[in-house]
Amino acid sequence: MSKQIETWRGAFGSAYIARNEVAPEVVQAKTFAWAQAFRALAGAMPRSILEVGANIGLNLRAIKLLCPANLFAVEPNAIARQRLVDDNVVPLDHVRDGSAADLPFDTRSMDLVFTSTVLIHVPPDELPRACQEIYRVSRRYVLCNEYFSDKPISIEYRGHNDLLFKQDFGAFWLDNFPDLRLVDYGFFWRRAAAMDNTTWWLFEKMGPGSEVAYQTETQVRR
Ligand SMILES: C[S@@+](CC[C@H](N)C(=O)[O-])C[C@H]1O[C@@H](n2cnc3c(N)ncnc32)[C@H](O)[C@@H]1O
Repeated sequence: MSKQIETWRGAFGSAYIARNEVAPEVVQAKTFAWAQAFRALAGAMPRSILEVGANIGLNLRAIKLLCPANLFAVEPNAIARQRLVDDNVVPLDHVRDGSAADLPFDTRSMDLVFTSTVLIHVPPDELPRACQEIYRVSRRYVLCNEYFSDKPISIEYRGHNDLLFKQDFGAFWLDNFPDLRLVDYGFFWRRAAAMDNTTWWLFEKMGPGSEVAYQTETQVRR
């Protein structure tokens, strides 16, 4: 278990919950935001959705209003897990302790697996393993909503120097999982979306042999 996970399990994680409590206007704004990311799935919504690093379920509370999927959560912080159950966001047997790098779910058991400001907290040397696990558990869709940076950087986060890593996570997914097809992507602006200026990507697994050639950075004229 990484040092970073231990930090989230303890007082640091509990302080995060206190700073990010449930409020009707937050759930409302997140519902509007997620509706944009789920737009391409309208008419054929996923029937099972796993959020990796769900915390108290601010995203899942919103997504619940958008589609009737069975919701699942992985979350290392025990207080957050209890809130998911106590607030009836996710049934007890759908909530698991764990980490992105070791997901306690079967291969291809979820229609959609997503992270929202969680990969930014995974140390770079653990990121390939975390994405491999998300890819493994997803049957069809991978959704990623994270802080963007053109070049990978580590930034100080609430007194910690090894807890926040930004990069182009969309490119990371496509470069490492060539059968992923980009379905859609966008930006959640802090002032309108109850999100922290995040970039999101929705990918679909196409299966081996159906790789799509994406334009690389060097092909783009500046
Ligand atoms: C910044 S919060 C985001 C919470 C939630 N996804 C949201 O958007 O409201 C990060 C959450 O991910 C959890 N977390 C941190 N590292 C993780 C990891 N490697 N695997 C799974 N969850 C992790 C933390 O405990 C915390 O609940």
